Amino acid sequence: MIKKFKDISELSQYAARSFIEIAKRSIEERGRFLASLSGGSTPMRLYELLGDQFQNEVDWPLVHFFWGDERCVPVDDPGNSYGQTKKVFFDKIQIPNENIHRVLSELEPDSAAKDYANTLKAFSEPPLDWPRFDLALLGMGDDGHTASLFPGSPVDVDSATLAVTANYQGRPANRVTLTQNVLNSSRNVLFLVTGRAKAVTLSRVLSDNYMPAELPVQRIAPADGNLIWLMDEEAGSLL
Ligand code: 6PG
Repeated sequence: MIKKFKDISELSQYAARSFIEIAKRSIEERGRFLASLSGGSTPMRLYELLGDQFQNEVDWPLVHFFWGDERCVPVDDPGNSYGQTKKVFFDKIQIPNENIHRVLSELEPDSAAKDYANTLKAFSEPPLDWPRFDLALLGMGDDGHTASLFPGSPVDVDSATLAVTANYQGRPANRVTLTQNVLNSSRNVLFLVTGRAKAVTLSRVLSDNYMPAELPVQRIAPADGNLIWLMDEEAGSLL
């Protein structure tokens, strides 16, 4: 499903309402809501809304947050996704710290990736070694990466997490990412994509040409879940 919005504000409002709807349904059906968050600039407006306008809309003690990827820098570094999200979202809601499952970005990337695979295992849904997220939020780089699955990275991997090094727009290079194995187990995947710089890549990604090595975002296809693209008119201008 593809939905286009005038701008990031309208898109973020819709994303917030979708988040809340999926959270409430998951809590009704399974007693908890497992959500994987995305880094980058695009979801920040959504996190601000959830920490402000919608802060009383969800039973936060029944929510567990995970990350689709993280940059291996200290939490107080502006490049750390957990740290940035904590300021605008987690610090504004009543959620137990133990419900926020951050990547230990202060560790060596390989150790942080192994540690995070164990964190995921603690929420695993057999026969999987990881949880089925009720919602995975993802973004897309103008190079076609998502989470920290970058062009040229190995397509066929068995693991839940990977330590990667990637150069993208001068952002921290060392990262830990979930693989498509985990993300494709999600019940709902919500992509948030904005800006003209992503229009060409988005039109290639949503074309019939399947190029998973070159366009890792195409590796995301939930086996038994919904895939929803939220974009602004600029990003979707070539569709
Ligand atoms: C990250 C993200 C990454 C992001 C894209 C798009 O931590 O960097 O997980 O995959 O979603 O790079 O970033 P923007 O939203 O800033 O364009």
